Amino acid sequence: MKFSLPRQILDKKIFALVSKEVEKQNEMVISASKKNLKGLAAALSKITDHTLPKHLQLEKLGNNLGMGVFLRSDSCPILKGEVIAPYSGIITIVPSNDPNETGYMFELLSNIHLNREEQLLLHPNRPFHPGRLYSIQLDALKKGNFTRFINHSSHPNLIAHLISTPSKNPYNLEPMPIEVIYIAKKTIHPGEQLLISYENDGENNYWGPAKIKPFPMTPKTFTLSPDFIVVKGSSVS
Ligand SMILES: C[S@@+](CC[C@H](N)C(=O)[O-])C[C@H]1O[C@@H](n2cnc3c(N)ncnc32)[C@H](O)[C@@H]1O
Repeated sequence: MKFSLPRQILDKKIFALVSKEVEKQNEMVISASKKNLKGLAAALSKITDHTLPKHLQLEKLGNNLGMGVFLRSDSCPILKGEVIAPYSGIITIVPSNDPNETGYMFELLSNIHLNREEQLLLHPNRPFHPGRLYSIQLDALKKGNFTRFINHSSHPNLIAHLISTPSKNPYNLEPMPIEVIYIAKKTIHPGEQLLISYENDGENNYWGPAKIKPFPMTPKTFTLSPDFIVVKGSSVS
């Protein structure tokens, strides 16, 4: 699999700016707990060694859904609270009204003002405009890891947390002011598909703009048989 980037790419040029914005909007991001850091370190070493951790399987689903990620049928359950992996990709700062709907994009922060020097540094081809608002995006279209193949459900078994990793940490992890990690929301049983909701409660910001109704599925709609073949059960409404 070509998507082998363990962790997001946050260019040095924008690191300080992202850190400053996280501090300003600090209710969005939680400082990583010891358990998060331990889980993150373990997940990163699995991705570095194997790209796709050995207890997971990537399969084509049918129904125009592309690929999906499953817990292998010979694996132990994943317990609630376990870190699955960080959602990796490339972080950029873009004008908020520039359309960039890749389907693999998280908007991490929005409503950001850049001063003249910052705009000159980040968008030298555009004239300075003091009122222009920017967003910080994380996109896994071109680079990412297996988490980019995790599909959407309104009955997910995963949840996304926004965490920050301090420079001093027991696992020697590179510091990150903001990062998305996927965590098990409940026990995930062998053979089940890993699913996450792309939208927070009440929002319609992922599927709405494209006017698409997502295919309704739960972790058991597609499962892996004991011999690792995808089997389709019933969907949900
Ligand atoms: C982050 S990708 C997930 C991986 C994708 N299946 C693939 O093979 O690249 C998001 C895209 O997957 C598809 N997708 C994910 N969940 C879906 C769902 N419940 N219904 C329909 N399409 C879905 C949509 O095309 C969506 O834009």
